[in-house]
Amino acid sequence: MSTTAHTEPKKIFSEAEDFLPINGTDYVELYVGNAKQAAHFYKTAFGFQSLAYSGLETGDKEKTSYVLQQGKIRLVLTTPLNQDSPINDHIRLHGDGVKNVALWVDDARKSFAETTSRGAEVAFEPYVINDKHGEVVLAGIKTYGETVHIFVERKNYNGTFMPGFREWKSDYNPMDAGLKYIDHMVGNVGWNEMNTWVNFYKKVMGFAQLVSFDDKDISTDYTALMSKVMTNGNGRIKFPINEPAEGKKKSQIEEYLDFYNGAGVQHIAVATDDIVTTVRRLKANGVEFLYVPDSYYDDVLDRVGEIEEDMGPLRELGILIDRDDEGYLLQLFTKPVSDRPTLFFEIIQRRGAQSFGKGNFKALFEAIEREQENRGTL
Ligand code: FE2
Repeated sequence: MSTTAHTEPKKIFSEAEDFLPINGTDYVELYVGNAKQAAHFYKTAFGFQSLAYSGLETGDKEKTSYVLQQGKIRLVLTTPLNQDSPINDHIRLHGDGVKNVALWVDDARKSFAETTSRGAEVAFEPYVINDKHGEVVLAGIKTYGETVHIFVERKNYNGTFMPGFREWKSDYNPMDAGLKYIDHMVGNVGWNEMNTWVNFYKKVMGFAQLVSFDDKDISTDYTALMSKVMTNGNGRIKFPINEPAEGKKKSQIEEYLDFYNGAGVQHIAVATDDIVTTVRRLKANGVEFLYVPDSYYDDVLDRVGEIEEDMGPLRELGILIDRDDEGYLLQLFTKPVSDRPTLFFEIIQRRGAQSFGKGNFKALFEAIEREQENRGTL
């Protein structure tokens, strides 16, 4: 079976420092125009389950949030309730998108102190919230664009999600899709900004660089980009950072930056133990994936070597195969989940590979270019 850094935590990246131990991703919060409908979409299409809710009924007159869960993945969908909320500005500028990437830590105050003393900009100072189930400590630092990392300390809390939320029991509980945890989250940043943010993750958060792809690795006939993958010490947090590169036509990263109005999260990669079953279920639920031409499969095994899976279902579903030094991986990308061509999801199953191959980039980018062509943004 697949082995991952997530299920067998070990210190595999010695460069990463110990001042910011992170247990995993706590939650990802999206600011959206209509959280009620977005929650229905993520339940119906992706198989998320209802977990918690806050809004008028819980005494929050500013905003409503729905918390959804699948495996260890928690999504929070938040929408403003009145015109004065700053959340409106975020939505006006970016459309629906990721605002907060929350990281689960044992000590939020220390995480805040260690990162701000190394140059992180403050999003908000540490504060404590509590209810009858205990207390949660939160603190926030800014990363690329308007995106924030929230440190979440919940060791003294045994409630459903956190104070301010109530359990959300729903009569509508669609079957899950086998999604287990967040494998990585990718940030798109502007021209010449990749190294700025690579250095931020190195210096401020103690991450190590796992792998680097330049525009020769990642280019098609038309567009190009560069990417560096940053990881924390136990490998549970992986943040690739992309920037556009010059090509004959507009880079897909530039298209993202145009529509998002700046840097932001490009995709959330979610892991499964059985990608064929997961993708079949998602497709049946109406999730749209990027098209992979049949010719991709003609020579893929020459490139990646032997794999355990039958090629038939992979070819039928358009699942991509790639490898690194340690093993291989199977992956597939959805179309954008909103009308602006910005955020999308990746489904990934690791078969030994801890990192990323470069072979699929080309297939992915050619698939995105076909979509760009249709949008008139190539
Ligand atoms: Fe990815």
